[in-house]
Amino acid sequence: MREKVEEILKEIETFTATTKEQVEEYRIKWLSKKGEISVLFDDFKNVAPDLKKEMGQKLNELKNKAQEKLNQLKEKFERSDSSSDEKIDLTLPAEPIPLGSRHPISIVRSQIIDIFGRIGFTVADGPEIEDDWHNFTALNFPENHPARDMQDTFFIDNENKIALRTHTSSVQVRVMETTQPPIRMIFPGRVYRNEAISARAHCFFHQVEGLYVDTNVSFADLKQTLLYFAKEMFGDKSEIRLRPSYFPFTEISAEMDVSCFICEGKGCPVCKHSGWVEILGCGMVDPAVLDNCKIDSKKFTGFAFGMGIERIAMLKYRVNDLRLFSENDVRFLNQFKSAL
Ligand code: PHE
Repeated sequence: MREKVEEILKEIETFTATTKEQVEEYRIKWLSKKGEISVLFDDFKNVAPDLKKEMGQKLNELKNKAQEKLNQLKEKFERSDSSSDEKIDLTLPAEPIPLGSRHPISIVRSQIIDIFGRIGFTVADGPEIEDDWHNFTALNFPENHPARDMQDTFFIDNENKIALRTHTSSVQVRVMETTQPPIRMIFPGRVYRNEAISARAHCFFHQVEGLYVDTNVSFADLKQTLLYFAKEMFGDKSEIRLRPSYFPFTEISAEMDVSCFICEGKGCPVCKHSGWVEILGCGMVDPAVLDNCKIDSKKFTGFAFGMGIERIAMLKYRVNDLRLFSENDVRFLNQFKSAL
């Protein structure tokens, strides 16, 4: 038996394979149930008792070596199998890679940033969790103004009046506190209001507000800036109209309508047959707000405006339900591929 073991060992050590089939033959010859090594194990019972220990060790060694060699051979062929390009048919059409698309809110936001960027407005950002001063007090909200009410505002810390910002005017305050005019900036961001969710209202939405503070900024500047914006955003034929309104932080205040870009003013369901659609709120910054932010209201004047991105996206893309913007339904999102 000893000679037989030595013989097999040699044969195994010198064995080489050039095909997978040869590896399989090797396995069957030595290591399968009826293979030669297994046969030797069966013969082990006939070994003289005083040799059993030595032969047992030798047999085990042989089996391990044979197995090790088999593993090496298998690995070698598996590796060369996967790296060989023999089986890849390069003429087959490729698997389609689904293209993503930008979210309509992102698309409209970039358009707004771009339009104002061309006339010198830069972008500033601020926190979504705000204190009472930046969201309300500095902006001239009277102590009992309904907008501070729990109905509209999500308070995080009631005692310290910390809340989710209800508008990005809070960023205007932050900028004015730290920057002396001229200031010409826009403030895109998410805002939160405690409203019941429906097709026309949501508990969060996105705004872009704008601020221009300098010497001699007039209402005419505001009007011209907004007309330029309307034409860039909704088309060259667009007209605007300003209606008197009220905001605590602007005096005078107005709401701006743009001529309906779908029916060009003739009347359609989008403009509810009025020829106009409401787009934004605006006005001249109240001198008290400038003073609250340590900007000299005798020297400087300013205008501000604020619009909802969802509202503009709804008009532009004729989306009739606000909830679609936050549901992430790919059937909805896929429709904006060409809008990139
Ligand atoms: N902050 C106002 C709002 O959220 C919008 C606005 C901004 C109005 C600036 C006038 C001037 O509704």
